[in-house]
Amino acid sequence: MYRDYRPKIHFTPPAMWMNDPNGLVWENGRYHFFYQYHPYDTLWGPMHWGHAVSPDLLHWEHLPAALSPGQLGAAFSGSAVYDKQNCSGFGAFGKAPLVLLYTSHGEYEQQSLAWSLDGVHFTPYDQNPVIPNQAFKDFRDPKIFWNSKKGRWGLTLAAGDRAMFYGSDDLVHWEKTGEFGPGGNMAAGVWECPDLFPLTAPDGEEVWVLVVSMICQEGQSNPGDTQYFLGNFDGEAFVCTKPFTEPVFLDAGRDCYAGVTYQNTNERIFMGWASNWAYARELPTGCFRGQATLPRRLSLKETPCGLRLAAEPMAAGSLLGAPVPLEGEVRLPGETFAVRLKGEGACSLMLKNNLGEVLRYSVNGQNELVIDRREAGQGGFSPLFTAPAYACAARRRLFDGPYQLELIFDVSVAELFMDGGTVAATTLVYPTVPYDTVAVEGASGELYPINL
Ligand code: FRU
Repeated sequence: MYRDYRPKIHFTPPAMWMNDPNGLVWENGRYHFFYQYHPYDTLWGPMHWGHAVSPDLLHWEHLPAALSPGQLGAAFSGSAVYDKQNCSGFGAFGKAPLVLLYTSHGEYEQQSLAWSLDGVHFTPYDQNPVIPNQAFKDFRDPKIFWNSKKGRWGLTLAAGDRAMFYGSDDLVHWEKTGEFGPGGNMAAGVWECPDLFPLTAPDGEEVWVLVVSMICQEGQSNPGDTQYFLGNFDGEAFVCTKPFTEPVFLDAGRDCYAGVTYQNTNERIFMGWASNWAYARELPTGCFRGQATLPRRLSLKETPCGLRLAAEPMAAGSLLGAPVPLEGEVRLPGETFAVRLKGEGACSLMLKNNLGEVLRYSVNGQNELVIDRREAGQGGFSPLFTAPAYACAARRRLFDGPYQLELIFDVSVAELFMDGGTVAATTLVYPTVPYDTVAVEGASGELYPINL
């Protein structure tokens, strides 16, 4: 049965296919959101960059595609910077340019540049590629950052099983400065969409975070997962100075991939692709396919297990309507709502409809958050969507004792945040008819309608 699964507060393309967020940048009052886009089909194909802008990361205005496939190949993932000082020389008429770096995926993967003065129309540089390559099969997803150690631009990209680092004074001429990986405590696989940025730890120390999405080998962790590393950037390469005893991941669910952060903002704002390559092509969403996670504010938090990345939902808070007390079973106010719970020990939170479909969250006796969407709705579109490896997830809490839990549910995307964001989990679900009831055991809290 077909029904409208388009989320209301999560970014979706007007129609057709999207995957990774690209070129996240703030400039003159607007957040740009570019994305991997196939304008002619609801399946992945020759990649373009779709484009939208927003004043608040909630209300999006769709703009024409910014990049199309060119002579060097399709326009794969990349990043954007607002070049205020006009280091690149593309500025004119007193206007600073937006500069995009992206992967041209043709016979080889090479890095290309495009620029714009109005933030709407983009011109590919006439001497692309700016980082040529004939050596590596996988060599993509350039992410530009400010190299504060050297007072110049830095860039990280994914080259097979490692991240490489480059430096530049003008965003056009790049020299390689170092590498990070593979080996040690890393989930092995093809690395994609790296991002490198500094955050201030609670004790005031500057810590650099390297985030990498990975298509992992079967049997290893989640097949599509985002690992992160904490350490230092010495101006040439990332060095992992705070190793974990086992790999740590940015999201405990199965549906957050290829996420990166905004350039030119005071806060570190992350958005991911809320999907998984294992079944992304089969999702039953009709005229569009693919959605982004909510924007999340990233920070570092000290936990009993050491320093960890925390993610908290942004913007959605301003949309919450009047709360209804939540204990036992309560009727849902619609298809987009938030639940906030306080608990200690085991609890369960279930969303149900009158067909007996249930999305289950629980905290079990081992102090784990457990997510189970096996019976949450439609699943027949893909053999993997309801398979345990993809439909069930468990993440051990880093804390003992009481907890607060926030679920933001939006038609077909659920995002759960717990323990100050040190647990975040994105889960897609396709209830055949909307959930109408929320049932809670072992905890209590509030239910909030959300209206955009
Ligand atoms: C990640 C990814 C990137 C690539 C893009 C192609 O999901 O595979 O590595 O640039 O998608 O659309």
